[in-house]
Amino acid sequence: MRSPFVPRTILITGATGGIGGALAEIYAEPGTTLLLQGRNRQRLAEVANGCEQRGARVLTHALDVRDQETLVGWVREWSAREEIDLVIPAAGVNSNIGPEGRGESWEEISALIEINVLAAMAVVDAALPSMRKRRQGQIALFSSLAAYHGLPLTPSYSASKAAIKAYGEALRGWLAPEGIRVSVIMPGYVESKMCREMPGPKPFLWPPERAARAIRRGLARNRPRISFPFPLNLGTWSLSVLPSAVSERILQLLGYGG
Ligand SMILES: NC(=O)c1ccc[n+]([C@@H]2O[C@H](COP(=O)([O-])OP(=O)(O)OC[C@H]3O[C@@H](n4cnc5c(N)ncnc54)[C@H](OP(=O)(O)O)[C@@H]3O)[C@@H](O)[C@H]2O)c1
Repeated sequence: MRSPFVPRTILITGATGGIGGALAEIYAEPGTTLLLQGRNRQRLAEVANGCEQRGARVLTHALDVRDQETLVGWVREWSAREEIDLVIPAAGVNSNIGPEGRGESWEEISALIEINVLAAMAVVDAALPSMRKRRQGQIALFSSLAAYHGLPLTPSYSASKAAIKAYGEALRGWLAPEGIRVSVIMPGYVESKMCREMPGPKPFLWPPERAARAIRRGLARNRPRISFPFPLNLGTWSLSVLPSAVSERILQLLGYGG
């Protein structure tokens, strides 16, 4: 059996967030280099400090991932300087239709797609040439259980996560023969700013540290899909295979109907 993959140089966007911060911390140990991005400089410094105290070497860059030129420049620069083993574009936002069902503004929709989809793809695109040249590397993309069936309360978020799910699955098939591992992460509800701001019930809420442990375990085993928690994964997966009328009714009854 192949031994689990232990990454030594890891790039994480959204490291100032709930899950991104927990991931930075869980990978922080002597011999590990962490390249961390966030916008909130104070929080970024706090996360970096915590990781350094655990023995990791940490390099941070505060930037808005909608600034693609700067984002791509940062990833390319470090891909040239270091052998990045694992890339995790975790930066993300959510938006919703509002309590009265007003709908999302175009500004919200386009910003969300820029952050959740285009920025994640830009990070992958910038990191890939060096990984392909070395025939080694790992990419972990953040989808969501909301990708299985669109949630009426969060249309563009659901769409963004479905896009990332399909992108990651496709990349995995393309890049596996070149020795590059790609996994799609599909969390349920994980305690974070984004999660708190999300409307609707939040069953089986996990703390970010638990999510980070599950993600690290799944990545070490090169799982194609790292989805959790089990009951919500099964439920949301079922929505994608049941007849639409049944899935829509279930979503209404459970309070996700809009
Ligand atoms: N939490 C959940 O229940 C859940 C469920 C499914 C999937 N996910 C996915 O998990 C990932 C992490 O989410 P989270 O729960 O940790 O959310 P979070 O705590 O709200 O963190 C979001 C992160 O994204 C960064 N970010 C947002 N917009 C940005 C921008 N324009 N430029 C740069 N950075 C930006 C934030 O940086 P600053 O704070 O520094 O601005 C922060 O680090 C996301 O992709 C999310 O969609 C989360």
